[in-house]
Amino acid sequence: SGPATVSPTGSPTGADQARMAQSGSHLTNAQGTRLYDTDHSLKAGPRGPVLLQDHHLREKIMHFDHERIPERVVHARGAGAHGVFQSYGTASAVTKAGFLAPDVETPVFVRFSTVVGSRGSADTVRDTRGFATKFHTSEGVFDLVGNNIPVFFIQDAIKFPDVVHAAKPHPDREIPQAQSAHDTFWDFVSMHTEATHHTIFFMGDRGIPRSYRMMEGFGVHTFRLVDAEGKTTLVKFHWKPKLGVHSLVWDEAQLINGNDPDFHRRDLADAIEAGAHPQWELGIQTFPDTPDQTFEGIDLLDPTNIVPEELAPVQPIGLMTLNRNPSNFFAETEQVAFHVGHLVPGIDVTDDPLLAGRLFSYLDTQITRLGGPNFPQLPINRPHAPVNDMLRDGMHQTAVHRGVAPYQPNSLDGGCPFTAGADMSAYIETPVTVPEGRKVREAPESFSDHYSQPRRFWLSMSPVEREHIIGAYTFELGRCYEEAIRVRTLQVLANIDPELCSRVADGLGLPAPEPTVPLADVEPSPALSQVGGTWPVD
Ligand code: HEM
Repeated sequence: SGPATVSPTGSPTGADQARMAQSGSHLTNAQGTRLYDTDHSLKAGPRGPVLLQDHHLREKIMHFDHERIPERVVHARGAGAHGVFQSYGTASAVTKAGFLAPDVETPVFVRFSTVVGSRGSADTVRDTRGFATKFHTSEGVFDLVGNNIPVFFIQDAIKFPDVVHAAKPHPDREIPQAQSAHDTFWDFVSMHTEATHHTIFFMGDRGIPRSYRMMEGFGVHTFRLVDAEGKTTLVKFHWKPKLGVHSLVWDEAQLINGNDPDFHRRDLADAIEAGAHPQWELGIQTFPDTPDQTFEGIDLLDPTNIVPEELAPVQPIGLMTLNRNPSNFFAETEQVAFHVGHLVPGIDVTDDPLLAGRLFSYLDTQITRLGGPNFPQLPINRPHAPVNDMLRDGMHQTAVHRGVAPYQPNSLDGGCPFTAGADMSAYIETPVTVPEGRKVREAPESFSDHYSQPRRFWLSMSPVEREHIIGAYTFELGRCYEEAIRVRTLQVLANIDPELCSRVADGLGLPAPEPTVPLADVEPSPALSQVGGTWPVD
């Protein structure tokens, strides 16, 4: 590599900053001074004491001592890849987002993850998988931070610390590292029955995917798209894998965990290296933006709900191809910082109370995880659009800002006059009408049906998928120490379906309870089944 280029101010620019750490033909210390030996400490004679003046020794060990950063508080274990998103242009009918216009190509970085396990945990555990995509658009960064399951455990972010505490290992023994099979998780989900839908999804085959390349992805929340005239449409985002949706069976997952705990990350990297570039179509379900924000009676602000694809078909809007492995895991996969609030003009949020908490949480946690507020400057996070912000200084500042004090309007700084509101290419929050009401800590009545959608899921499964679900509940509950938790969970299952309940009860050697709510009269949604495929992929 040649010498790094410098900007007119004398500071290195862009990728040159990264290259600088490894340029030149000889080994140096961090100050660029050439070393003649890196294997021996400086001593008073070959058998004498090591000298404090050995700066190279101290620098080398000091840096090593600080190599680790905190792992993510959730989704700690993951694998990433670079790629490109090719827009079909079909979304232009509902959004002005530039990267969704016809034939626009946008660089992307994707990180797949498990939720519960720590960084060193195994890949093929039963868990939800993260599916986070960073679009480096010309209008700024858009992050779609989703999962491979279309619903979530809770309806309000204030419960997120609780559900994660219940799912993470026990505080005394740190067991189990990466599985749901323990009392606190089942204690939580059996008492928070809003979790029933997510739980039955990940007791199903989607909880043990065959490969990251064979998973669907979901934005989960309802988002609001805005077109150039200001007309709004509510949408749910879906990623559909070209390879179809495939899972392991439980015995395979267990064996693979023992044989190759890196199975999923190896599979992704090997496929990309071999030229078998994985592809997903991005699609949207669209709903009219009515004042009640419901569709066919389904509350679109409740993240424990899906809208069946039979009622609102997923319309393809673009194709993503992952075609390049990261060259440095730490720099890219570990330091990438996703945020549901990274939005571009034409895409807005809704009042889903789970989404509101996420809008706070990601930025907050990344300040700790990435050591201060300047992580957007890291190469993997840096926008591909020009950045001209008023943020200054702070830990790990690498920019050399110019001009006078950053405030606007600023009659002393000729550099960049700020044109407030004048430019329609700016991000303008949609002026939606907010409902009036009393300030309360309450969920709406429309969030209270916790069983109809899980029942629809159960009724949509093929016979083999039902057997897997029965086996998974029986195995997991069989490993709970407290019988009261097993009994309470059987009650939840009875409210989904009597056959599901009685089969699991038989397996546990317990009586099957009667339902405490009327069984919902719902139609199956064939698209929920992995058998037969869910998408018109060629
Ligand atoms: C990380 C998805 C709900 C807090 C992640 C990641 C994904 C994800 C994919 C991994 C990002 C990465 O690869 O770096 C989701 C989905 C949710 C959800 C789909 C619900 C629909 C929440 C909620 C909170 C939360 C309600 C908090 C109130 C976090 C935090 C991280 C994280 C703190 C770690 C971020 C980091 O350290 O960079 N989430 N999450 N999530 N999520 Fe969520």
